[in-house]
Formats: sequence, structure tokens, C-alpha cells
Amino acid sequence: MGVRRNGVSLAFRSALLLACAGAIVASAQRSKTQAHSGAVTFHGDVAPILERRCQGCHADGSTPLATYNEVKPKAEAIVEAIKSRRMPPWFADPKVGEFANEPRLSADEIRVIESWLAGGTLAGKAGMLRHVLASTPEPLSPDLVLTASKPLAIEANNALDYRYLILSLPFTFDRWIRAAEIRPSNRRAVHHAVLYVRDPRSKWLREQAAGEPYAPRDAEALARARAVTDEVLAVYAPGADGMLCPDGMAKRVPAGSDLVLQIHYARSAEATADQPEVGLAIAPETPKKRVVTLPFAKGAAGRPLTTRPLLVDALLVSLFPRTYLPGVGADFDIVEPGGISEPVLKVAPNTIGLQLNYAFKSPRPMYKGGALRWTPRPAAGAAASEPGDDSDESMTGYYDIAVDLNVSTQRILAQQ
Ligand code: HEC
Repeated sequence: MGVRRNGVSLAFRSALLLACAGAIVASAQRSKTQAHSGAVTFHGDVAPILERRCQGCHADGSTPLATYNEVKPKAEAIVEAIKSRRMPPWFADPKVGEFANEPRLSADEIRVIESWLAGGTLAGKAGMLRHVLASTPEPLSPDLVLTASKPLAIEANNALDYRYLILSLPFTFDRWIRAAEIRPSNRRAVHHAVLYVRDPRSKWLREQAAGEPYAPRDAEALARARAVTDEVLAVYAPGADGMLCPDGMAKRVPAGSDLVLQIHYARSAEATADQPEVGLAIAPETPKKRVVTLPFAKGAAGRPLTTRPLLVDALLVSLFPRTYLPGVGADFDIVEPGGISEPVLKVAPNTIGLQLNYAFKSPRPMYKGGALRWTPRPAAGAAASEPGDDSDESMTGYYDIAVDLNVSTQRILAQQ
């Protein structure tokens, strides 16, 4: 999946909403502000950093970091967590690969929060924004926001709770999408969500009305709904960014398509609700390359997984391993046609239940005949795998590759 460049989101409605969500950001950088004088305060200096860098995950939950009263007692823990680089979380081995969406705080940002602690955690005046950090990128505005017409009710003690929502699009000619984000209103309710582009020729879920949420009634109906081959526009999982294509690249949405949002709600002890929305940013011009999101075939827990070979040259844009194997890290390699492999990402075991995506700073070339290998790497002494909420998802995920515009989706990978 594509992504956040430094951790801000699609600006859905107003600047206030900016902070929520893992994220999408344009590459434009704000101009450097001069060092400011005077004491560092929460409202003047610290809040904007937390808003952009932390609240995607810490707006609520067990460690809310939104208001002064929430943040002040945690000041020391925050400084410790950011200096040790434990927060924001990032599991890629720094020795392998460089990533455009690494949410690493700048030295400047760390310094501001440290000085705030050292200076006595002053509140300052609400609305007095003084410190606009140079590293904070300008958010990208969505051109189109589609919202579920009413909240989806989630029953208590739900199991394998999948919903489908068909969202109509107004496109009468092919459009190119450079960024997309799925935004649940109730993040804690969502296990994961996938936004598909349904081609006008696709028969998938045709019997369902647009706008009406569909909950498959039994295992057979669920299996039918999940057996999808349509293209993926964006994926949401706790911790993951939205999708952002590198410059000059975009995803295609054919004329007459609509969107299908699939949401898997996590098992919940209490009844709750969620009203998801999705945002799309349209590319200003025809891109040079088309980005396609491909699913990893489902792997047997703990066994290496290799994709089918490429039929064309391509660029590997990003990797989004979703795994629910506690204590198991992952190595990703590009396997060249001759058999030589090149490591592109090493992910440490998932310790806090987050599913991050990794967007390469420079997309990695892959050649015709090449493939991608995912090797699970159990940490020394780790217990054998324990399936999560849904046992068929112990090792799954997506990779984004870019191909020439004339390459059809069916001609990207060799058939089985
Ligand atoms: C991608 C999601 C995510 C982002 C972004 C994030 N955190 Fe966290 N953070 C977590 C999770 C998950 C935990 C563990 C559960 C909890 O305490 O909520 C955590 C825990 C913490 C804790 C308490 C435990 C510890 O490790 O010290 C602090 C303090 C913290 N985060 C600070 C921050 C700050 C400051 C930022 C922004 C600079 C930030 N986090 C960004 C997900 C995130």
C-alpha cells in the first residue's frame, strides 16, 4: 500500500480532522520557519506535532494524547518513547531499504517536545500556533469523499463479521487516482477494510443495492462475497496509512466503475457502530505508470510464500504484510529470474498489534520472470503460531507494483 510521507492524513473536511488517521500527504513541504523565541508550550508547539504524528493512533484508546490534560502526565513517557524511537512505531530493519512513509520524527520535533518537558510542561494559549515545523508536509485534499449513509450496527460477540458497502462513483471516463484512504468512524471496531474498484463488467455483488450495507448471511454467502478478483484501491488496518502513489504514478478507475468497501469488524464484547468514509484524490494528469495492488496468496502459517513470476518488467512500490503471527518477523526478497535474491524489507515481530505498510523511497525494479518472496522469521524461542481473530489470515497482505500503462491486469503475473 501506499501512504503517508511523514505521517499526516488526507484532509477530509477541515483542518481539524487532519490529525486523525494513518495517512496521506502530498510531497510539498512547508517552508522552514525560523527558530522561535519564548517558552515552548503545549498549544503553541507540542499539540501540532502530536496531532500530525501521534493522534492517528492516540486520539482515543488506552493512551489518548489529544488534550493538555491527557498529555501532561505522560510527558516523560512521551519523551522517552520518541527518543528511543519506539514511537511512532516502525518495524522495518533500518539496514534494509529506505521508505517514503517512515514516520520518524525529525530532530527538530523531538527537540521541541524535550524542551517542553524541560521547561515545565506549560499549557500556553489554545489557538496560539507558533511552531509550524519544517518537516510537516502539506496534507493532500481529497477530491471526492464518500460516506456510508448511516452507521453500521455491530452486534456484541460478533464472529467473522464482514460487511460490504457499494459506493457509486460519478466517473463517466477513466480516472486516475493518486491517493485513497478508508476512514472508519470507529477505528477500534475495525479489524481491517479493503476498498475495491468494481469494473462495470464485474458480476461481483451485483444483486446488492448501492448504498445498502450487505452482511453475508452464512458461510457460503460470505465465501462468495470474499471470492473477489476486482482491483484493490486501498486497504485499512490498525496502524496502516492510506494509499499514496509515487509521483507520476496512479491507479486506474475505469469509466462506469463503482467502489466496494469490504469491512471486517473485530469481535467485540459490546454492541457498537461505525460509519466509514473513503476519500479519493484524483491525479492531475495521466500518469506514466499504473500502480496495481496485488494480494499475496494466503500462506500456510510459518512457511515461505513466493508470488507467481512477473510477465513484464515492473517497479515494486510498497509492501503491506498483514500478519497475525505473534513473535514472527518477516523477510522480503525480490527473487531475480536467475534465482539471485535481493532483500528489500525486514520486519521485526509485530508486538503491538499494528499492521504497517512500507512504501519504498525509490520503487525497486523487478524484471520479467522475477518474483517476491516472503519468509516468516520466528524470533528465537517464540511459541508456535496462534491464529488471530480469523485463522485464515495468519499470513496475508498486499504488494503494490507499477507497470506501463498498456499492460493489462491479466498480463502482469504468470498464471498458476
Ligand atoms: C501507528 C500507530 C501509532 C502511532 C502513530 C503512535 N503510536 Fe504510540 N502507541 C501505539 C500503540 C499500539 C501503543 C501500545 C498500546 C497503547 O498504550 O495504546 C502505543 C503506546 C504509546 C505509549 C505508551 C507506552 C510506551 O511505549 O511508552 C506512549 C507514551 C506513546 N505510544 C507515545 C506516542 C507518541 C508521542 C507518538 C507520536 C510521536 C505515538 N505514540 C505514535 C501506536 C501508535
